[in-house]
Amino acid sequence: MVDTKYTVTMNKNDKILVAGAAGMVGSAIIRALLKAGYQNISGTYRNRKPSVGSDFVDYLQIDLMDQSAVKNMYETLKPDFVFYAAAKVGGIVANNTYRAEFLYDNLVIQNNIVHNAWLSKVKKLLFLGSSCIYPKMAPQPIKEEYLLTGLLEYTNEPYAIAKIAGLKLCENYNIQYGTDFIAAMPTNLYGPEDNYDLQNSHVLPALIRKFHEAKTNAAEKVVIWGTGSPLREFMHVDDLASACVFLMNNYSGNKFVNIGWGEDISIKELALLVKRIVGFEGFLEFDVSKPDGTPRKLLDVSFLRSLGFNPSIHLEDGINNAYADFLNKYQ
Ligand SMILES: NC(=O)c1ccc[n+]([C@@H]2O[C@H](COP(=O)([O-])OP(=O)(O)OC[C@H]3O[C@@H](n4cnc5c(N)ncnc54)[C@H](OP(=O)(O)O)[C@@H]3O)[C@@H](O)[C@H]2O)c1
Repeated sequence: MVDTKYTVTMNKNDKILVAGAAGMVGSAIIRALLKAGYQNISGTYRNRKPSVGSDFVDYLQIDLMDQSAVKNMYETLKPDFVFYAAAKVGGIVANNTYRAEFLYDNLVIQNNIVHNAWLSKVKKLLFLGSSCIYPKMAPQPIKEEYLLTGLLEYTNEPYAIAKIAGLKLCENYNIQYGTDFIAAMPTNLYGPEDNYDLQNSHVLPALIRKFHEAKTNAAEKVVIWGTGSPLREFMHVDDLASACVFLMNNYSGNKFVNIGWGEDISIKELALLVKRIVGFEGFLEFDVSKPDGTPRKLLDVSFLRSLGFNPSIHLEDGINNAYADFLNKYQ
């Protein structure tokens, strides 16, 4: 059921809550809301400090695992709209090592946020999942309809199961309780506030850091895992944030929405692009003894486009922006 007709829109003075406001996605949503003129924003953080300061944003430190603290937060803030961007996230090693935590923590946090949004009569909530919810062998590009049509990638199955439970929570609260909870599944993201820890980061921030360190140490080569042939899609987090604000104002319905750039690039081409942007002059070596993973992972974003949203930040511009942010933080 797609029902854009009855969508409520955010007024500039409505109370907007961003859960996970210090994260890469949460801070981008705060920037997008401020840019659009919203003036009554609250953000939650846990350990990491929020980076975006403004008279129109107040921050609250809270552990979203704590059910009664989350209930009190809703009772005190009385948010009209909620963006759910808090989660325990990580790369393949973290996902596969802390399997119980990835499942348990994400289930608890999202249950607390979604259930209390219903109890507090929130006008609308946007739940953010991830493209890892889809079957490992899903046909490409991946349509929303492919959910639950095959086995998941085992390394991140706990995280994916939690995210699937989250989007189903939204769907079924809508059906049983008449709420207006929507869900979106973003592709791989990058940009300001990304995680550059090599043990725990995604491919693009890892490449930025590797090339930067190689340049700084005048290394002669950078080694990339695998053949470089897998195709992946990347979206700047500011485009994702614009899409989230757009959906909050323009879409209601039980069908969740893929959010992506709509085109992919090989890891080799990506590595060459990052190499050029960072200014590393050595060469690339592909360690073909390491696994490549899924050959292609691209979201079908025709549904998002049919609603009227198109992203605007091209990969080269976006990586330049991400590298500037990296230099700002780590130099
Ligand atoms: N990054 C991507 O490429 C990507 C792609 C697709 C979807 N997404 C989705 O976007 C959402 C946000 O991801 P992100 O990349 O912004 O991750 P992130 O930078 O790690 O931000 C997540 C935030 O959630 C907070 N958090 C975690 N557990 C918490 C708890 N118990 N209580 C309070 N806060 C807690 C973390 O706070 P602390 O740091 O203080 O622990 C962190 O600041 C996730 O749902 C993710 O699946 C991300």
